[in-house]
Order: sequence, then structure tokens, then C-alpha cells
Amino acid sequence: MSLQITYGNPKHEMEADALVVFVTEAGLSEENAQAAGGLHPQLDAAVRQLRERGLYHGKPEELYTLPTVGLLPTPFVVCVGLAAEPDADGLRSAAAAVARGVRSLKARHIRLLLPEWLLTGGAGCEPQAAAQAMSEGLILGLHSREAIRREGKEADALESAAFVPQSGQEALGLAAAWEAGLRRGTIFADGVCYARELTNRPGNLLTPEQLAEEAEQLAAELELECEVLDEWSAAEQGMGGLLGVGQGSAHPPRMIVLHYQGAPDDKTVWGWVGKGITFDTGGISLKKAAGMEEMISDMGGAAAVLGAMRIVGKLRPAINIVAVVPTAENMPSDRALKPGDVITTMSGRTVEVVNTDAEGRLVLADGLTTAIQRGATQLVDVATLTGAVMVALGDVATGAVSNHPGLMETVRQAGERSGEPIWELPSYPVYRRQLDSDAADMKNVGGRLAGTITGGLFIGTFAEELPWVHLDIGGTAWLSKGRGWEGKGATGAMTRTLAELASPSR
Ligand code: BES
Ligand code: MN
Ligand code: ZN
Repeated sequence: MSLQITYGNPKHEMEADALVVFVTEAGLSEENAQAAGGLHPQLDAAVRQLRERGLYHGKPEELYTLPTVGLLPTPFVVCVGLAAEPDADGLRSAAAAVARGVRSLKARHIRLLLPEWLLTGGAGCEPQAAAQAMSEGLILGLHSREAIRREGKEADALESAAFVPQSGQEALGLAAAWEAGLRRGTIFADGVCYARELTNRPGNLLTPEQLAEEAEQLAAELELECEVLDEWSAAEQGMGGLLGVGQGSAHPPRMIVLHYQGAPDDKTVWGWVGKGITFDTGGISLKKAAGMEEMISDMGGAAAVLGAMRIVGKLRPAINIVAVVPTAENMPSDRALKPGDVITTMSGRTVEVVNTDAEGRLVLADGLTTAIQRGATQLVDVATLTGAVMVALGDVATGAVSNHPGLMETVRQAGERSGEPIWELPSYPVYRRQLDSDAADMKNVGGRLAGTITGGLFIGTFAEELPWVHLDIGGTAWLSKGRGWEGKGATGAMTRTLAELASPSR
């Protein structure tokens, strides 16, 4: 993403391809002389007429593009609707709508005019949070999956966006807050785009070894410490879960560990663990063919953790993190795990594998143990763990299972501030019994009922009583149809929530 986002009136008149004006329904229905931002009386009148004819209402995210036919030096004015007191989500969505709108105009440079009520963030938002949300919306709204084609991509991309306070309002003293918010939003959105690009990458172009190389490159760029355990080191460490899942594939598994130490004297160490199944066929418990291609996204949890580490590496907050990505390809073959096999995880616990398609929890078990061995004191795992979570929460909210109400609430609030809803499911001890096994300490599937909860509780066993939150992004990591600031395909869900946990905005 090379979009330059700036604040303030540039010294020399910047050539803009479009001016963006924020409007509200109330602003259009009143006898508002400045309905289109007061740029030109004829444009203001034109927008009022559209409203009178019922053609444009200025509803949230509703766009209308007016050609300026020589009235202004800029060829287009783009009106975008906002709620009366928009919150950060409303601003992020509006900015994403702008990004898509100006893309269809092939605009390279845009200016977004900030009336005073927006400059201050309005009633729903602090100025810095407003700036962050808008820059996130622009960058995330612009981002889409890049096809791998013979022909190169077309080059009509947005290059610069300037937020310009409307006349006389520079004196409000908000420049620092806006600049900080735009900087933070750019870093956050960049982390999400990185996560989306990893997740959208096809399985043949992102094997566990290649994911490990990506992590090493990320670590080198951001001066983080990185260890990658290959299948031989994993065997030495007894990682039976990771090795079991990976053994059916020609591409061997890897355990990736990134370390970030921003507070050496602090005993608290976050353990972030992301499921990194680069492709999930289901293994011997083979999935049906229809839609299986979406299982390239089964490393969405890994992508969120790496994307968040990218943000952390830039912001350098005063906390400690050990980020762990167990990564494998789940394939059927003569060497693959079979239903009924019993494996021994790194923690020493044995598992009866009744379904090889419940592979995420097997690699995450060793991921949690690895994080704990490397010093983690509180754990968050992110995983495209179940299809069942989609039945419960759709593609709207991430499902959570936890053993610690305090940490759960902290994570839930970070999600709320990021516009990434998280909904906790109950974790009554009675559910655990569904995992009882005749053949081992537990089995990897507890039946059809409450599949997201039993999947979570399986993983929670490996948290060893440390505070732990499991985030099931099975419904939110991938969208079949774009929505708001999320396009079709990978969303990068939980990247910003993790980064917000590491560096809270309040
Ligand atoms: N990666 C899948 C879960 C998934 C499926 C996420 C579809 C998003 C969309 C996971 O490994 C899996 O296969 N889970 C099984 C668990 C079952 C065997 C208990 C599932 O959800 O069917
Ligand atoms: Mn599976
Ligand atoms: Zn899976």
C-alpha cells in the first residue's frame, strides 16, 4: 500500500482529481446553503435538488459523484453520507466507501474536506480515533485480492489523500491529534493488508516453509527475534500434534516463534498463537470438494498474529510478546494421520484423533505449549477452527472461548474499539466431557453439538491454567461478498484487535 495520507492544507495547491465532502441526512433535508460543503453555490443547490427528488439522501456510506463542469478546478466532488454522530466504525465505513468510489473515478489524488464537526471527531469519537478510523477505512477499502495473471496489474491506483480542515479551522489545535491518528491508522491498516495478502495466497505458493520464510523476513525487517523449528527440531521437542498433522504432506511443518521484548522488567508476557494450516483438505477425513479452495484461508489466524506483530514492530509498545505460529499442510496420503490414531502432544497429553479434519486444535496444542515454554503468562489464540462458529455467529462476529473473565473482557473491548466484534460462548465444565476418550487423555472431536465450544475447550486444556482467550475466526477470516472496509476474500480479522491489545488507544 503506497497511499500517502496527509493532514492540513498543503502549501501549494495540490492538483486533486476529486474533492470529498461529508454530508448527513439532516444536513441535506434542512435548508442548508452549504449542502455540498459550500464549495460552490451551484453544487450546493444541485445536491439539495437531488435530495428533493429523492435521488440522494446522504445516508451512511451513500455516495454521489458530481462532475464540477468547470465550476471548480477539480473535476469531481464526491459526496459521502455519514450518520449524525458517527462513531469510529461509521467513519471507517464511510472512508472505505470513498476509497471504492474514487477508485471507479480512477482518481490518483483526492482531498477530503473536514468540517469542524468532523475535525473534532464529533460526539461519537475523539479526533485521533476519528483520524485513525478514516485512514484505516481508506487503505482497507482500497485493498482487494490481487489476481496472479499473465498481464501485469493496471496502474490507476489512488496515490495520495489529503485531509483538509475547512477554512479557518486550522486554529483549533488538532493537527497533532490528526497526524498521530493518521499515522497509527496507516500502520494498522498496513498490518491488515499484509495479513490479507498472506491469507489470499494460494496453498501451492504458501507452504509451511514459505510461511516460515515470510515470518523470518518480517522479523528481519522489524528487528524482531525469530526462531523457526523444522520437523527435526519439532521431533526433538516432542511436538506430536504439529508433526501428526504435517506428516501426510510433502511439505514439512514448521513451528515459528517471534519474540518482542518492549518491557524487559515486566513479568507479563503475551503469548499469541495463530493457526497456520496453509491448506486444509481435511486429511483422511477428507472435506467435500465444493468450496474447498477457500481452505487456503486456514492460516488466517497465523496471518493475524504476523500482521499484528508487524504493527507492534513499528509502534514498539512497552509490552512483551511471544508470537507462535504452528504451521502445516493437512493432506491425505499413505503417511497421513488416520482416524483412531493416538498421538502424544508436546505437553505429554495423548490425543485420540477421531477426525483428521479437526487438525487446527492439534497444532495449536503444541503452539500453546511452545508459547508457555518461551515464557508466555497470558494467552490468546486465533484460529479458523470451526465451520460451526459460522452457523452460530455468521461472518459477522468472531467466537470466543475463555477461562478468564478479566482477560476475556480486555480482548472483547479491544475488538469493540477496532470494529471487530467478538462474542463469548459459554464454557461450562460439562462440555469438556464430550472430549472424553477410551483410547487417550482426550479425543480431538466432541461430536456435532457445541462444536465451537468443545474445539475451544480442547485448546484451553493446553493453557495450563494460565489466563487464556481463544478466538475462532472460522466465520470472519474470509468473506464471500465484500462489506464495509472488508473486501471479498481474506479480511485479516483480529489483526487490529491484537495490535489494539498491545497498544491500547485508551
Ligand atoms: N479449518 C476448518 C474450519 C473451517 C471450515 C473454517 C470452514 C472456515 C470455514 C477446520 O479445520 C475444520 O475442518 N473443522 C471441522 C471440525 C470438525 C471435524 C469437528 C469442521 O468445522 O467441520
Ligand atoms: Mn480441518
Ligand atoms: Zn482447518
